[in-house]
Parts: sequence; structure tokens; C-alpha cells
Amino acid sequence: MANVISNVALVPGIYVMKIEGNFRGRMGQFYMLRSGRNYPLLPRPISIYDIGEDYISFLYRVVGEGTSLFSQLQPGQEIQLEGPFGNGFPQVEGSLALVGGGMGTAPLLLAAKHYPHAHVYLGFVQQAFGVEAFEAVAASVQVKVGGSIIEQVDPAHYVNMFSCGPTPMLQALAMKTEGTSSRLYISTERHMACGIGACLGCTMRTREGNRRVCKEGPVFPVEEVEFDDLHGV
Ligand SMILES: Cc1cc2nc3c(=O)[nH]c(=O)nc-3n(C[C@H](O)[C@H](O)[C@H](O)COP(=O)(O)OP(=O)(O)OC[C@H]3O[C@@H](n4cnc5c(N)ncnc54)[C@H](O)[C@@H]3O)c2cc1C
Ligand code: FES
Repeated sequence: MANVISNVALVPGIYVMKIEGNFRGRMGQFYMLRSGRNYPLLPRPISIYDIGEDYISFLYRVVGEGTSLFSQLQPGQEIQLEGPFGNGFPQVEGSLALVGGGMGTAPLLLAAKHYPHAHVYLGFVQQAFGVEAFEAVAASVQVKVGGSIIEQVDPAHYVNMFSCGPTPMLQALAMKTEGTSSRLYISTERHMACGIGACLGCTMRTREGNRRVCKEGPVFPVEEVEFDDLHGV
């Protein structure tokens, strides 16, 4: 169990929760979070948003019971968390674009901190959130509210791209990347029960066969992704 330092709504329904402690974790990895000791039964996977020597933080959207319980936590209250899990984004060299849509921006902040030369593209349906955190660390940040942020991304300019967001956005980026030498890595999502590769509940079909999103993922090179079996953010 760890103590909540703060749990603040950036916009209605979207919160940043900061938790006290010395945690491990790399860009694109996630933790399994549970607000109470035994309830709900299953913890929920949430990407590492930010991490420092004495804290870890998570950016989350309230969608159902588990995240609704998270949003009720007050500073000083306890939360259960285990991790880090998953492979995370790879170490890369050369120019890099970080392309996020909505909640898909969450796993990209650590990548922006890790690669200060990265160009960041953030797309939102109705309301932008968390943009200032990227502006504080990235070489450039482009934001689009409504429409498609992919129009502003030219994959030919980048040796590497990391992306997370809704499936149509990821697919549009993948199509635009085809025929370029840019390497695209996508962070995927699945319902998870164990988070450690034991239950097979998060299995996803890929071009390399079935893969567990919690263990072999959540990050996959785009060549492996079967878009018709992809659950975007
Ligand atoms: C690796 C990984 C990293 C994630 N990182 C974040 C993050 O940083 N921030 C964040 O807000 N969310 C993140 N998610 C999604 C988050 O885990 C779910 O929103 C959360 O589990 C919902 O729990 P709940 O109890 O609130 O909703 P539930 O009551 O469990 O579900 C509410 C609705 O959301 C759907 N749903 C729940 N989980 C998922 C899922 N994983 N994929 C698709 N649909 C789902 C359900 O089918 C249902 O319709 C991540 C998921 C994965 C797999
Ligand atoms: S969540 Fe159990 S194997 Fe991935």
C-alpha cells in the first residue's frame, strides 16, 4: 500500500494521481492499481505518466467502477499498486515523433522526458488536457482539438515514432508511415486480470501469432499489429 499525495482533475473526468514512494518504471510500462485492499477484485492497468525519486503519477479517465473509485481517493489515503509491468517503448536513436490521442497521451510523457529532442503531436476530441506537461519538456508540441492530429505528422521526417490512442488514429498513422523508413511503435490495450502473463486474458492476435499485451506488449512494432484485433484507447 502507498499514500496518495494528490489526486486532481485536469478537466472533468480526467485526473492526475500522484503517489508517494520510490518506484521503478520506464516509458510505456504500466502498474496494476486497486483503490481498496480487496475491492474491486481485479486491479486496473494504468500507464506510468510520470515518475521521480519519491513519487509516481498516473493520468486516468473515469470510465467505470475501478477508475471511479480512484477518483474518490483523497491525499493521505492508501492505494494498492504493483508493477512495473509490460515491455515499454524501446530505446531508439535519431529523430523521434510522439503521437498521442486522448488518454493515449498518458504513456508518452515519460518518453518526452527521456528524449527531449522529440516532437510531440497531441490530438483530442473535445478538450485538451495535460499539454503543459509536454510543453515543459519537449522540443515542440502541436495540439489539435477536433479533427485529426495525423494530418500534421509527416513520418518521413522521423526515424522513429511512438504512438498511443484510438484505433482509427493509429491506423491512419500506420497508413501514412507505409513506404517511409520511419519505424512506428504502437502501445495497445486489452482488459487485464493478472497483468503478469499468467491468465492469458489479454491475448491479442498479431502477425507473429498470439501475444499477451501485458507481457509481450503493450508496445508492438507496427508490422506486427493486426488492426482488426486492436483495441485502441
Ligand atoms: C497497458 C494499459 C495501460 C493503460 N493506461 C491507462 C492510462 O494511463 N490511463 C487510463 O485512463 N486508462 C488506461 N488504461 C485503460 C484502463 O485500464 C481502463 O480504463 C480501466 O481498466 C477501466 O476500469 P474501470 O473499472 O473504471 O472500468 P470498467 O468498469 O472495468 O469498464 C468500463 C468500460 O470500459 C471498458 N474498458 C475497461 N478497460 C478497458 C480496456 N483496457 N480497453 C478497452 N476498454 C476497456 C469496459 O469494457 C467497459 O465498457 C490502460 C489499459 C491498459 C491495458
Ligand atoms: S492480464 Fe493475465 S496474461 Fe495478461
